[in-house]
Amino acid sequence: MPMQHTSVFHPDSPQARAIVHLFYFDLGIAVFIALTVTILVFIAIIRFRWRPGAPEPYQDPGNPKLETLWTVIPALILTALAVQNARTMRFVNRPVRDRSPNVVVMAHQWWWEYRYPQSGVVTANELHMPAEENWLLLIEAADVIHDFWVPDLGAKMDAIPGHPNHLWIEPHRAGMYIGTCAEFCGLEHALMGIRVIVQPKAEYAAWVKSQLVVPGPPVGAVAQQGARLFAERTCVNCHRIAGTPASGDVGPDLTHLADRETLGAGVLYNTLDNLARWIRRPQEYKPGCHMPDERLTGPEAHAIATYLEALQ
Ligand code: CUA
Repeated sequence: MPMQHTSVFHPDSPQARAIVHLFYFDLGIAVFIALTVTILVFIAIIRFRWRPGAPEPYQDPGNPKLETLWTVIPALILTALAVQNARTMRFVNRPVRDRSPNVVVMAHQWWWEYRYPQSGVVTANELHMPAEENWLLLIEAADVIHDFWVPDLGAKMDAIPGHPNHLWIEPHRAGMYIGTCAEFCGLEHALMGIRVIVQPKAEYAAWVKSQLVVPGPPVGAVAQQGARLFAERTCVNCHRIAGTPASGDVGPDLTHLADRETLGAGVLYNTLDNLARWIRRPQEYKPGCHMPDERLTGPEAHAIATYLEALQ
């Protein structure tokens, strides 16, 4: 993957750029006011300080010119700020007219589910999207309020149960973008990472195709034992794997788990050993997460991991 981006100051979409420009505009005005006031205060301190024998300073009973000026200037500044804010908001939160979302983002405690209504792809935590397309995301939540935020690509958008919100994102370049949940949502709020993998159009199309393939039956004794354990233990109650009876929707869809770079919404890199560790002791890597400790032995966890890592 190309470089990782994680800074609001390196916007890679028109939406994020508009937000940064608004920030610079506001910052410019704030700095100008701060400098003006500071300089005037220093001039006053130096020029008009008390000196022995100095007369009583001139007492001004009221100055209509000055009072008008210090009312009109702040009013103009506030108007400029308000207009610029409204323009940015209108651009970033463009109204949605007769357009179905490209992806439905469902926030869960503490992971992200992505459903692509057009293709039927379902995945978790790592959002794939094509470069140079203006995408509409529908943001929802399954339990409490979360907030979807990928600083380089767009605005923050609250994920509220029963109140779908919209978010436009138009990534300019292929690359990997890091985001996070930006609304305190419980114990694992800080471990609810987002990865957005922006791909050239052809590469994205190939990814969609690969996601629609139903994985074949497990090959090899260890993977077969893993599949058996997966079905016997409570794993199937929460997870879905296409082409198997596992059809739970409480936890992430695992049909193409091996395709992902990370596990547990970014807490571990997705390797065979890490997956076995995660399956064995999820609470150690993500305390409080809803994945229970099944008290599996090392070899059992390894077998399940072997099975899942073959699901590409
Ligand atoms: Cu989800 Cu904070």
